[in-house]
Amino acid sequence: MALDFAPEHIGPLEKTHERKSFDCGHEDLNRYLREQARQDAEKRVAAPFVFTQPGDPKVLGFYTLSSSIISADELPVELMKRLPRYGQLPVTLLGRLAVDRSAGGQGVGEFLLVDALRRSLETAQQIAAMAVIVDAKNERAESFYRHFDFQPFQQTPLRLFLSMAQIAKLFE
Ligand SMILES: CC(C)(COP(=O)(O)OP(=O)(O)OC[C@H]1O[C@@H](n2cnc3c(N)ncnc32)[C@H](O)[C@@H]1OP(=O)(O)O)[C@@H](O)C(=O)NCCC(=O)NCCS
Repeated sequence: MALDFAPEHIGPLEKTHERKSFDCGHEDLNRYLREQARQDAEKRVAAPFVFTQPGDPKVLGFYTLSSSIISADELPVELMKRLPRYGQLPVTLLGRLAVDRSAGGQGVGEFLLVDALRRSLETAQQIAAMAVIVDAKNERAESFYRHFDFQPFQQTPLRLFLSMAQIAKLFE
């Protein structure tokens, strides 16, 4: 059956969401959702958001957002030159993003990513963040983010960023 991509089907992870059967193909991400995500939310170290379908508590995909900070010299020189000379810069960390295998290849990853970027942009209007950064688990994940114009950091290629200025343009 076709998935319903209404924006209201992404919301904060709650106790009632069914996480046990979630399988994205990476055991560490599955375990995170099962065992850690609720605690992270309660302790306010990460905000997990999940995608579900109406009347079904099964989690089909999720992502987490947290505040973070980067060293300015990690950024590409061209971008650094255009920024104020602060040693450290505020960013939003897209810590994890994963899709259940049963829903793979249908646009759920993109739907989650766009939602995470929109939420990050809205939040940055109140608490500044100059980019969204991600730590890709492997080269496949890296290529997923590059598909959406994320660029690698200078010294750590599996860490990627998309500037908030670029994100703002996406939603103009
Ligand atoms: C990577 C992942 C999130 C993709 O989710 P998905 O729902 O299957 O992807 P979508 O169907 O939304 O794909 C959207 C677009 O991204 C592209 N895409 C998907 N995976 C890609 C990859 N690994 N590399 C490049 N492009 C990719 C698709 O071709 C599609 O492009 P199009 O719209 O131009 O046709 C999913 O496979 C997953 O959860 N993997 C395991 C966990 C993981 O690696 N998470 C990422 C970082 S921690």
